[in-house]
Amino acid sequence: MSNSYLRLLFLLVLYIISANSSQPYEENYEDAEFTLQVPTLEDTDLDNLLSFSYYRKSCPQFESILHSKVKEWIKKDYTLAASLLRLHFHDCSVRGCDGSILLNHEGSERKSQVSKTLRGYEIIDDIKAEVEKQCPKTVSCADILTTASRDATVELGGPYWSVPYGRKDGKVSIDKEAEMVPMGHENITSLIEYFQSKGLNVLDLVVLSGAHTIGRTSCGSIQYRLYNYKGTGKPDPSLDTKYLNFLQRKCRWASEYVDLDATTPKKFDRMYYINLEKKMGLLTTDQLLYSDPRTSQLVSALTTSSVFEHQFAVSMSKFGVIDVLTGDDEGEIRTNCNFVNAY
Ligand code: HEM
Ligand SMILES: *[C@@H]1O[C@H](CO)[C@@H](O)[C@H](O)[C@H]1NC(C)=O
Repeated sequence: MSNSYLRLLFLLVLYIISANSSQPYEENYEDAEFTLQVPTLEDTDLDNLLSFSYYRKSCPQFESILHSKVKEWIKKDYTLAASLLRLHFHDCSVRGCDGSILLNHEGSERKSQVSKTLRGYEIIDDIKAEVEKQCPKTVSCADILTTASRDATVELGGPYWSVPYGRKDGKVSIDKEAEMVPMGHENITSLIEYFQSKGLNVLDLVVLSGAHTIGRTSCGSIQYRLYNYKGTGKPDPSLDTKYLNFLQRKCRWASEYVDLDATTPKKFDRMYYINLEKKMGLLTTDQLLYSDPRTSQLVSALTTSSVFEHQFAVSMSKFGVIDVLTGDDEGEIRTNCNFVNAY
């Protein structure tokens, strides 16, 4: 048996384990309509579950409104696809997928230093305005952001996954809490622990990091790797020499942007992992996935097959239901994603 075949097998085993561990959620969604038949449950209990058919009666046009808006914005500026995906990551990372990142008041997550480079808020506002026109006070900002990140992924050639609906919007957003989102300087142990704290495993960490197959960062955030890494007076030795040369030329200004995937930045594909094998990971946390024994096997497996596409959909489905608020007493349907309802 070849080495790459073994790797694939290894990955598939993990895939099955992770698919099984996400079973409870799926059961909930699919049973959502069925539980209506159970006499001991009152109607309100339905609100406590996410469901694929949540808006089927109240806003059947939601998905098509959202889809055409996302498509329109990305056609004008493809870099917004990555920004939407990252916005969703930051939303779910703090207080779950509750739209708390969208709240735009003094001292909110959005106003934190670490949120400074987040973009795409105007797309969510645009979708929300149209959805409010057609189905007032029905669709949550949290559901809009979750679904927009899925459609953004698909627009750039990535996989599709079904999003269950019924997330309520949170009323609390605190800037300090945004600082727990990983920023690219962490070690693998703390990344694994961080993901574990969200109910995600090592495979989810490696697969979701694959989102860096699109998007960019500013040169300022990686400059420390280029000349005087950790006070050695030399560049980071884990960078490929040619790539280092390219980065040194590209990054004369800290404000310049540089693609996270140097090879196919406009395409949602598995090149991210192939780049890591070539020492072309831009963030240190990306490159570490390939040098750390706990994650390197998975990186290699993801380069040699199309498992990435399938597993990204699985991991994103798990990600999109982190700590969701579902009860009427837990959250609300905001009418404007920027503000908590006044009533
Ligand atoms: C594993 C831990 C992660 C770390 C340390 C990390 C770190 C970063 C950093 C430092 C940037 C550059 C931000 C900037 O300079 O503006 C970035 C960008 C990005 N991240 Fe992550 N990230 C992680 C996980 C994720 C996950 C789970 C997703 C989504 C599923 C994601 C999606 C993105 C995207 C799409 C961009 C590009 C944003 C843009 O172009 O506007 N990241 N990430
Ligand atoms: C990883 O980072 C954490 C948090 O910064 C730190 O406490 C820990 O000692 C680091 N572990 C290793 C192995 O460097």
